[in-house]
Amino acid sequence: MSFDFNTPISRKNTNAMSLLGYRDYLFTETDAFDSDYSDTDLIPMWIADMEFKSPPSVIDAIKERADHGIFGYSQIFDQEFKSIFLRWSEKRYDWHFNTEHLVFSAGVIPALFNLTKHCCAKDENVLIFTPSYAFFKLAADRGGNTLVTSDLRHVDGRYEIDFEDFEEKAKDPKTTLCIFCNPHNPTGRVWSVEELRRVGEIALENGLRILSDEIHCDLLRVGQTFTPLAKLFPDSDLIITCMAASKTFNMAGFMLAQTIIPEDSLRNTWLKSELPVQNPLSIVAVQAAYANGAEWLDALRSYLDGNFSFVASYLKKYLPEAKFRIAEATNLAWVNVEAYLPNEENLTLFFANKAGVLLEGGNMFVSNGDGYIRLNLACPRVQVEKCLERIAKVLLGH
Ligand SMILES: Cc1ncc(COP(=O)(O)O)c(C=O)c1O
Repeated sequence: MSFDFNTPISRKNTNAMSLLGYRDYLFTETDAFDSDYSDTDLIPMWIADMEFKSPPSVIDAIKERADHGIFGYSQIFDQEFKSIFLRWSEKRYDWHFNTEHLVFSAGVIPALFNLTKHCCAKDENVLIFTPSYAFFKLAADRGGNTLVTSDLRHVDGRYEIDFEDFEEKAKDPKTTLCIFCNPHNPTGRVWSVEELRRVGEIALENGLRILSDEIHCDLLRVGQTFTPLAKLFPDSDLIITCMAASKTFNMAGFMLAQTIIPEDSLRNTWLKSELPVQNPLSIVAVQAAYANGAEWLDALRSYLDGNFSFVASYLKKYLPEAKFRIAEATNLAWVNVEAYLPNEENLTLFFANKAGVLLEGGNMFVSNGDGYIRLNLACPRVQVEKCLERIAKVLLGH
């Protein structure tokens, strides 16, 4: 079957965050957002969803369930749902987990918030690697915990974990939780088995739990392999895994995510604190995605690879001072434009105002992201091209 990722689809009148939610998320009250472009001509490259339709199998399953017509309180009672997700995990990551450890939430963010609260006392610290997805910091803030950051190092254009720094910080008895991003947003790193082993060993030797956010695990460049962190530590129950169909199949609006919590007491605490209901359409949609979405996903990955190559060639040709390495995973390009804008601190505002491109500047990623912009490439190539043209125009001054 062939899938069309090339034809733009309008999201007008669909309450899309990407078109209508940017002001609150991208700008603070003091930011002078006043674009040279009209609202309808802004190019949304910020929020990490896609401008593509979900797999046909998902759409069909929703239609069929909609035809049934009764949408009362629902919960994932059907063991088949769990078995299908387990089969996906076994096939894609060669990881077998215990389905009794599987719980559900209305997204990964709610799971991060909830688990941080349960894993950390108020006076304990949460450790993250920076640059970082901003909600990791928010999880610590909401839990009233102190945030400890370990900067990733940039070695030959590739981000690496500074293990000495991590170990030193993990040794602090007040630091009890590490929120880890595997693969990593925003840098796109797919951590190697060796790196994952070291992260796990350092954390576990120092008594830290790890909350491994693996939401981007299916969006791999062709040829990359993903390893769930917990797979490497089958005897530990201190590694919690968050996954979801949301990024993989562009269905974040369904708000259904899976968390694997091996530790009995923590899982029981979770089960007592979470409302045990799921949206009936989300249940069939996610099940259909994992059961029948593989072919679509493989086609999507090829298309995304093409978008990343396009960006690499474009930057090389027109903006050779930009630093860019194709992400190993995610749909997110992380580009350093510091050479062109050495004194510009708020890149989000700069590009929104001057280029009419809505993107996330490096300063939105907690710390250690200055000089970078993050572009979501999960859109038709013509949109990527238009966005790069506008960026080049403002950076080159013509
Ligand atoms: C690392 C990471 N975790 C979680 C999320 C959001 O998860 P959800 O929409 O399931 O709450 C995102 C979205 O960009 C993300 O990048």
